[in-house]
Amino acid sequence: MKGKEYETLLFMLSEIVKDGVHIVNSQGKSIIYNEAMAVLEKTPREDVIGKSFGTVFSHIPTEESTLTKALYKNVSTINKRQTYLNNYGKEVTTINTTVPVLDQSGKAIAAIEISKDITDIEYLSNEILGMHKERPEPKSIKELKIKKYNFSDLICKNEEFKEIIETAKKAAKSSSSVFIYGETGTGKEILAQSIHFEGERKDKLFFAQNCAAIPETLLESMLFGTVKGGFTGAMDRQGLFEQASGGTLLLDEINAMPFELQGKLLRVLQEDCIRRIGGSRDIPIDVRIIATVNEQPGELIEKGRLRKDLYYRLNIINLNVPPLRDRKDDIPVLVSEFIRKHNEKLGKEIWMMSESALKLLMTHDFPGNVRELENIIISAVSLAGKEHVLTEEHIKINKINTRGNEKKLMDDIKMENGLDSLLENIEINLIKEAMLTSKGNITKAADKLKIKRQTLQHKLKKRL
Ligand SMILES: Nc1ncnc2c1ncn2[C@@H]1O[C@H](COP(=O)(O)OP(=O)(O)OP(=O)(O)O)[C@@H](O)[C@H]1O
Ligand SMILES: [Mg+2]
Repeated sequence: MKGKEYETLLFMLSEIVKDGVHIVNSQGKSIIYNEAMAVLEKTPREDVIGKSFGTVFSHIPTEESTLTKALYKNVSTINKRQTYLNNYGKEVTTINTTVPVLDQSGKAIAAIEISKDITDIEYLSNEILGMHKERPEPKSIKELKIKKYNFSDLICKNEEFKEIIETAKKAAKSSSSVFIYGETGTGKEILAQSIHFEGERKDKLFFAQNCAAIPETLLESMLFGTVKGGFTGAMDRQGLFEQASGGTLLLDEINAMPFELQGKLLRVLQEDCIRRIGGSRDIPIDVRIIATVNEQPGELIEKGRLRKDLYYRLNIINLNVPPLRDRKDDIPVLVSEFIRKHNEKLGKEIWMMSESALKLLMTHDFPGNVRELENIIISAVSLAGKEHVLTEEHIKINKINTRGNEKKLMDDIKMENGLDSLLENIEINLIKEAMLTSKGNITKAADKLKIKRQTLQHKLKKRL
């Protein structure tokens, strides 16, 4: 390729890229000044190209010009944030990289400046920080008057889950970090709060921070705090680690924390002190950490979403909460409790749930776990009128998830006990339900079942 062709290639290259490109030759004359740079600096290209850089940009003091430094002092400036007024007096913020181009003897033959316009990003981040600033200090559960949970709020019959609760009770007596794994809605928050509110730290503050809920940059300042001038908009403020001093910090969905920040968190936990962003002072901390994830930790580590070293540091006490589909013996007790709780709230008088309705729930997989079950009960109780029994009609389950399971349950029954037993079971359930909805009135129940009163009486004597 000839020199002229290289020039064309360079020109095309600078036109294609989205960032601003400005190249000056050894005499300080601008040879490339692309459209993106012209837009950024609000300076017409023809005013710059072929002209001496120092003359066109005379308002920039020579000692501050990164292009001049690159050209005359061989100084590279990498990723420098600059805020300046462009030719229209508009404040522009850029991230600049400026490098000298050296010949074989080490003499600068040109200097290249690449500018990325971050004015909008900067504006947004200041807005967020502004909101952050105006927002009252993060409040603990106590101050916010959010429901405080303790172990008695955990309804459980399942043996495996009971053991987990026992481990959590032991955990409450120590200050070790706790790592909770459980699908969404399995009760991780209740466990975490119970550990805090039934432990030594109960009189100190409990903070919960969902790591997936706020942007990465804010998460870091939220956790560690900031020092005024540390970065644009920063002011002196405590982070959650300082605020939760002596208490507990629940870090939900810790895998959503950027990998680098996970590394910083690990260092904090190992050294028991933090440094605010932009600060130089180490501040000792005494905070118990409870971390949660709702995906398999092993898989998260494998996929590079959870640092292995952080996981081992946090996993001193491990609580693995099984999904509701693996502890279906908890469903009836949870149903009773939720009926009781929401009866009161919704002013209803439901006494129980029919067996067939319960069976329907037992066939469901509950991807949303206990939260989903509670929502189903809330909607059932709200749907009910003056009746005292919740039936299948009141149960609104996401059908996509049930069909397969209903079939599976039927298959299980058939396999286990044969068709006669299955039919008998169905009959018993229908009779029970008819009796319940008829409030024990045999004539009414027989009407519902479309059989004679005597037949029903006979069946009741025989089977129930
Ligand atoms: N064993 C339980 N007994 C009573 N209520 C429960 C139980 N488990 C969960 N709940 C109820 O289910 C809802 C979800 O519980 P929680 O917020 O603790 O779940 P989580 O695991 O933290 O969910 P997520 O991962 O979505 O944050 C809450 O309303 C809680 O009261
Ligand atoms: Mg939670």
